[in-house]
Amino acid sequence: MTQTRQDQIREGKSKILFSTKDPNQIIQYFKDDATAFNALKKGTIKNKGLINNRISSSLFQYLERKGIQTHFIKQLSEREMLVKKLEIIPVEVVIRNRAAGSLCKRLAIEKGMSFDPALVEYFYKSDALGDPLISEGHILHFRWATAKELSLMVETSLKVNEVLRPVFKEIGLELIDFKLEFGRDAEGKVFLADEFTADGCRLWDLQTQEPMDKDRFRQDLGGVDEAYLEVSKRLQNYFEARL
Ligand code: TMP
Repeated sequence: MTQTRQDQIREGKSKILFSTKDPNQIIQYFKDDATAFNALKKGTIKNKGLINNRISSSLFQYLERKGIQTHFIKQLSEREMLVKKLEIIPVEVVIRNRAAGSLCKRLAIEKGMSFDPALVEYFYKSDALGDPLISEGHILHFRWATAKELSLMVETSLKVNEVLRPVFKEIGLELIDFKLEFGRDAEGKVFLADEFTADGCRLWDLQTQEPMDKDRFRQDLGGVDEAYLEVSKRLQNYFEARL
């Protein structure tokens, strides 16, 4: 069995990565740990690991069906996902359909302002620096990604937005913003990596406008465990009805 955990490669804030016997495949283990504000705030969200594995697995499979290449291979267990081993590109792409979070703070933009076309931002993936906002100039100059890789990353991120917005709308949620990460395989081919969960996106309930994502944890709004579970249940029902 090549698909069992071997050595721990690294432990991040919400996942642990393990090698497998296959040098081209690794296992992402999803934890219940939650952090915010660059880990200044720490806690746990009940069953977040298995909920996020479930949400991410179903969304990655859906994105693959829509022609987006992801690192997802298969869900191995409640908390484990088998993925392609990639070299992660240290650039986070953030897509915003409405203003929220750091954008409102940074530029005094009114919360909820809508963007059409969606606003694209880049952040440098560095815990030590607190993931600062960067420009295309930084990415190219410091060779974090090539121009070709960056345009593929942006094009893919906008396609993910187009594909997932209607899915969330159908289950009563508005996709406000989200963050994606990408990586390259041994041949230099770029894939969507990491995860797509309520940890890395904002989802507002269409009826109540209440956040149903990590903002409940960031802002101490209560009902955090319940919101994660609710998003997962609605998505599960959506995909089950369409199998
Ligand atoms: P922001 O408003 O904090 O810039 O975040 C925008 C969206 O991207 C939000 O849904 C959270 C997500 N995000 C992360 O999950 N991790 C990050 O490091 C960054 C910069 C954003």
